[in-house]
Amino acid sequence: MDVETVKSENEEMVESKEKELLKKLQNDIDQNFTDSIQLIGRSRPILELKKRIQKVAPLDCNILILGETGTGKEVVAKMIHHLSGRNSEEREFFAVHCGGIPDTLLESNLFGHEKGSFTGAYRTQKGYFEIASAGTIFLDEIGDTTHSFQVKLLRVLQDKKFRRIGGTETLQTNARILAATNRDLVKAVSESLFREDLFYRLNVITLKIAPLRERPEDVPLLIRYFLSKYTKKHNQLGIYLKPETIKILQRQYWRGNVRELENAIERLVALAESDWISPEDLPDEYLNAPDPHYLENAPFLIYSKAKEQFEKEYITRLLTMTNGNVSKAAELAAMPRQNLHLKIKKHKIVPRKRFSEAKNEN
Ligand SMILES: Nc1ncnc2c1ncn2[C@@H]1O[C@H](COP(=O)(O)OP(=O)(O)OP(=O)(O)O)[C@@H](O)[C@H]1O
Ligand SMILES: [Mg+2]
Repeated sequence: MDVETVKSENEEMVESKEKELLKKLQNDIDQNFTDSIQLIGRSRPILELKKRIQKVAPLDCNILILGETGTGKEVVAKMIHHLSGRNSEEREFFAVHCGGIPDTLLESNLFGHEKGSFTGAYRTQKGYFEIASAGTIFLDEIGDTTHSFQVKLLRVLQDKKFRRIGGTETLQTNARILAATNRDLVKAVSESLFREDLFYRLNVITLKIAPLRERPEDVPLLIRYFLSKYTKKHNQLGIYLKPETIKILQRQYWRGNVRELENAIERLVALAESDWISPEDLPDEYLNAPDPHYLENAPFLIYSKAKEQFEKEYITRLLTMTNGNVSKAAELAAMPRQNLHLKIKKHKIVPRKRFSEAKNEN
């Protein structure tokens, strides 16, 4: 048997194993939920989170969901609603993004308003507290709200009563409140940016979602899940990722967490030119990213050489994290900017833009 035959047989074996793994993934997809309510992952933090969700969903208490951007806070909120017994036609789920919108609009959305109560209020309108009285209201980005809004929210949470803007009638609500933020609320409270009384009201039960970098074992699973999701969506069934491609994706620093990984897979599927996506099909940025596990596989080096190598990889990673911004990188690493500049020069590091952002600029 010649080398080429062995190589090709080996490749076939690897590829059939990959197809097998993709099939097995079906067991991880919860058939009770739609695509937007899947919490894929077998890492300890995810399994524990799922267990807690099952436990607290039927309890009728407020829940605070914490996690960095793109870690799945909205997924968790929807899952709680679906498992809460509040899930039926007339018991709706409303997600309200509280950050970056003016208080009047936010309050009008939540509490409703009477005709003529402000310019543009041409007719009386019910708010979510009224419409979703038996449902769930998900207050996203709660850490970005103003003090004045926080006071009003606290009042509803305390006695379940509210008034429409400009209204005189006191209305009752039984809506369940789920709130989420990617901010450090304890710090915000200590800096008086967030009201302590509201924090304790919301914080009866806290669910914390671990960032992707703390559960790298979930990455291959998520990759295969998104691959199956987007090949279906784009009618591109029969596209796979070679195991080496998955390995490279696994060692990336996913700053935007699951959302960034999801976007990357959708993009790869959309741009795929052959059935098997190989490492060469990945953007250079991915190929050049340092491997966080390199020490385990690296050849042994004398101390001074190892230190040099570490420094180079550390700085390369740092600059990737800050998208090439040296000042930010210096701040993050807590080192003088000048010092960082010298090291960048010494190692001839070319700061690169991350693929996703470089693309958006086109
Ligand atoms: N464990 C997971 N399994 C499958 N999909 C996930 C998982 N976590 C997140 N996602 C997907 O990632 C995307 C981002 O999730 P989501 O919007 O819930 O994040 P978020 O924490 O609310 O982000 P942000 O802070 O930006 O609002 C969604 O498309 C979601 O379906
Ligand atoms: Mg969100």
